[in-house]
Amino acid sequence: MRDVAIAAAKRAGEVAKTYFEQTTLERMTKDDKSFVTIADKEAETAIVACIRDAYPDHGIVGEEGTALNPDSPYQWIIDPIDGTTNFVNGIPIFGTSIALAERREVILGVVYNPVTDSLFVAEKGKGATYNGKPIHVSDQTGEKGLVTFGFGAGHDVRRDELFVSARSSFKSRRTLGSSAIELCYVARGGIEATIMQGLSSWDYAAGALIVTEAGGMVTEHSGAPWRIDSRHLIASNGITHESLKELVQG
Ligand code: IPD
Ligand code: CA
Ligand code: CA
Repeated sequence: MRDVAIAAAKRAGEVAKTYFEQTTLERMTKDDKSFVTIADKEAETAIVACIRDAYPDHGIVGEEGTALNPDSPYQWIIDPIDGTTNFVNGIPIFGTSIALAERREVILGVVYNPVTDSLFVAEKGKGATYNGKPIHVSDQTGEKGLVTFGFGAGHDVRRDELFVSARSSFKSRRTLGSSAIELCYVARGGIEATIMQGLSSWDYAAGALIVTEAGGMVTEHSGAPWRIDSRHLIASNGITHESLKELVQG
């Protein structure tokens, strides 16, 4: 399953790379006002083809509309391009996110950025890797650390409030525009904490497993264990988790 997920992510990456920096790429707007392009759709089609080829009975849920075999105990959760706004603006912070859940528990996560050729992989209980090498979260405190913000449509006011209040507990603050990539950076070290609100499982299912397998923490804003359908989550290197929790609850 790991190899299929990696092959699918790389295939989607090829599609995305073909369209990246094409200034003529049409920006279509979805109901939630987010952008979608032909690259998002073609990348999803490519991923679905790879998975169906290997596992025709498995379920697949994709951001661009795929909904197959909903009763299967195995569900693939895919975001063909997470960070479409960056993608259409020629900013290379985006990635393909593919997770596999078995009876609603994520057991495999793959995130791939084709521009930087960065591949993050985690399997439940087997650790996380970045381009084949094991990774671990950072040991930085908030005092020297970086926190990022990934908020869905309609959650902007909360994001702006938190951005201001986070100044007291973190040295640096950023909004990077790709939740999947931000979670991978928490896992790899480089980002100490991230706050997400109003997102969907395809934005973070793979990344959340990558963080926990790299020794980090992922919970709901209340501190309760993260579940696959939690729409609000905080993820950290563990050291900053308590102050992160206080921040989002404050
Ligand atoms: C978006 C990214 C972003 C988050 C947005 C998501 P998309 O996903 O994850 O970081 O802040 O709200 O919708 O639409 O680029 O796949
Ligand atoms: Ca997304
Ligand atoms: Ca997307």
